[in-house]
Amino acid sequence: MMNAELIGQSLNTRALGKKIYSFETLDSTNTFARKLFDEDSPHGTLVVAEEQTAGRGRQGRRWQAQKGKNLLFSVVLRTPFIQERARILPFVGALAAADAVEQLTHCSVECKWPNDLLIDKRKFAGMLIEAVTQNDVVTSVIMGVGINVNQREFPDEIKSKATSLAEHEENDIDRIQLLCRIMEELEQRLEQLRQFSPQVLLDDWKRRTTMFGSRITLTEQAGQSSGKAIDLATNGALIIENETGIRREIFAGDVTLG
Ligand code: BTN
Repeated sequence: MMNAELIGQSLNTRALGKKIYSFETLDSTNTFARKLFDEDSPHGTLVVAEEQTAGRGRQGRRWQAQKGKNLLFSVVLRTPFIQERARILPFVGALAAADAVEQLTHCSVECKWPNDLLIDKRKFAGMLIEAVTQNDVVTSVIMGVGINVNQREFPDEIKSKATSLAEHEENDIDRIQLLCRIMEELEQRLEQLRQFSPQVLLDDWKRRTTMFGSRITLTEQAGQSSGKAIDLATNGALIIENETGIRREIFAGDVTLG
């Protein structure tokens, strides 16, 4: 069982996770984190649940995960540079989680735009990043992370596309150790974002993807289209090229390879 005290004891960070809320069951860690009053959620506040009854994914989807086997958490981010550089945060989160997983397992992790993590082309982690505003000013950004860790069975509708870390390891993974490693990596990556050009992070992310040069199908609110993934723009947008060679930048959407 993951509880706030055990997590706090293993966490080796300067600012992140100094305040931790842990729950056995919650509607959604992102929803809870959004509702915290400012004074209850200093920068780095961590919300963890063993189970979510209304876990949310990107594009209005649900995030389903078996109770007690996975990582379901949200981190409240509140420093001024985070608002300016909000578009880079998906890459920050993806890199922190990918690096932590590779340090603690034998898995080799690939990134898919904007913030999916894959092993052998199957997704094992996703992120939902939401801005909280007051009078049109962003007061914080909630980074919600879902990682399939020790779950070994998946519902039929996602079976062919989903995986977990345990499916690639002999033994179950220590979830507290993994969570703490991710928080430590996240702290370092945020420091990198504060000090350097976002390009440094985007370049690290690009080294972790095989999608560029490949044909993709893009699903946006406006519908589906196909093309070739070309590169990341400096603002984190995905540059795609259609059959007639016209390029455009995508800020929100879902990519299927092939
Ligand atoms: C996606 O790939 O669509 C994003 C999935 C994000 C899921 C996590 S689980 C913890 C946090 N709380 C939520 O309701 N969603 C995020």
